[in-house]
Amino acid sequence: MEDAPATVFSMKHDLSSGGRAVEFVDLDKPGKMPVRQATGLAEFDRALGGGLVPGSAILMGGDPGIGKSTLLLQAAAKIAREGHGVVYVSGEEAAGQVRMRAERLGLSDAPVKLAAATGVRDILTTLGTMPPPRLLVIDSIQTMHSDTIEGAPGTVSQVRGCAFELIRYAKETGTAMVLVGHVTKDGTIAGPRVLEHMVDVVMSFEGERSHQYRILRALKNRFGAVDEIGVFAMAGEGLEEVANPSMLFLTGRDEPLAGSAVFPAMEGTRPVLVEIQALIVRLQSGATPRRAVVGWDSGRLAMLLAVLESRCGLNFSSAEVYLNVAGGYRLSDPAADLAVAAALVSALADKPLPDRSVWLGEVSLAGEIRPVAHAGLRLREAAKLGFGAGFGPADAKGIPQKLRYSGLRQVMNLVDQVVGTQ
Ligand code: TYD
Ligand code: MG
Repeated sequence: MEDAPATVFSMKHDLSSGGRAVEFVDLDKPGKMPVRQATGLAEFDRALGGGLVPGSAILMGGDPGIGKSTLLLQAAAKIAREGHGVVYVSGEEAAGQVRMRAERLGLSDAPVKLAAATGVRDILTTLGTMPPPRLLVIDSIQTMHSDTIEGAPGTVSQVRGCAFELIRYAKETGTAMVLVGHVTKDGTIAGPRVLEHMVDVVMSFEGERSHQYRILRALKNRFGAVDEIGVFAMAGEGLEEVANPSMLFLTGRDEPLAGSAVFPAMEGTRPVLVEIQALIVRLQSGATPRRAVVGWDSGRLAMLLAVLESRCGLNFSSAEVYLNVAGGYRLSDPAADLAVAAALVSALADKPLPDRSVWLGEVSLAGEIRPVAHAGLRLREAAKLGFGAGFGPADAKGIPQKLRYSGLRQVMNLVDQVVGTQ
């Protein structure tokens, strides 16, 4: 048995043998900017920051059934139709199933090379016999298996090991590669998180399966910004692009309704108007009231309720509170606070908010309405869509003339607007 100091010594790099000199380059050296490959789906390209970068690895995460395979098959077909090599490896569905889907989507004429395989060694051997494709899709990384690694497909070591081998191929050949990764709630299969540091781009495909709309978001991008989204609608013929999403998440009813507030959200450079709905149910008994939230952070709702209770003297403690963001949209913009508060106060008072009004602002624990980014852009979009009134932070700039704007300093001012002397 070796003793410990010898082991440590033997692991040190010996400077006199082995090792090659690495090459240093200057930061300002004009490098070749790789030409990006457009996917043929403008919304996909937008979320990618302008198309697929050759040699890059993209992780596409999302719940099962959300539409990842559909989106990638559509992009694969478009690129193949342009005459570029595209390989689609399905580890989940048999080739016949993918072909049937392609037929339904009207894509069966596209020269995509399709294979049903799960062995990474087989896949890489096959790819080695042909010119590297422009796009390689692996659907999904959790079904892949490498015989150089112990464990069943889907375990952390397998998922990492397979991804490592595939990414090396992509880098060496300049192939843009998309790895599909299902988001899993239980820990039996390794989720996409274990790969996030290995890939260049992490995207998430989101939406409620029961709703039509899907949002493609970049969570990490080594080649571009991460604030642009792609918006799609799931239709009978696959995913349709939604180029102008600003009105999608409005319900389009005519009469104002208590508990409903419209929030001009920002997604990257595009404003999107979203309806927030609140329902308050008074409890007779002393049972613990429920708080249920769809599309927003439940911790943030608890905070807002506490602020409304302590700063405005409203009482939610014996009432059930339900909050819903319309259309399956998921809000992450902190400027939504005031619109949520407006919906809650309106529901509690059972009085609708002023007709065709939008609400924006962050609410602090002290109950102050804080400034938000791009207030002018949000309000101009609202005005363009026919909204006549805006409520938000007192110092908002760039307010369009068409819109009547009321600056609020405190959440108490909001309560005055809704229940007070209007
Ligand atoms: P899919 O792409 O298989 O999801 P994922 O790969 O993320 O698991 O999409 C599955 C759902 O999409 C399925 O429930 C049916 C629906 N769908 C349509 O509504 N229209 C279509 O044209 C297609 C192909 C799928
Ligand atoms: Mg799939």
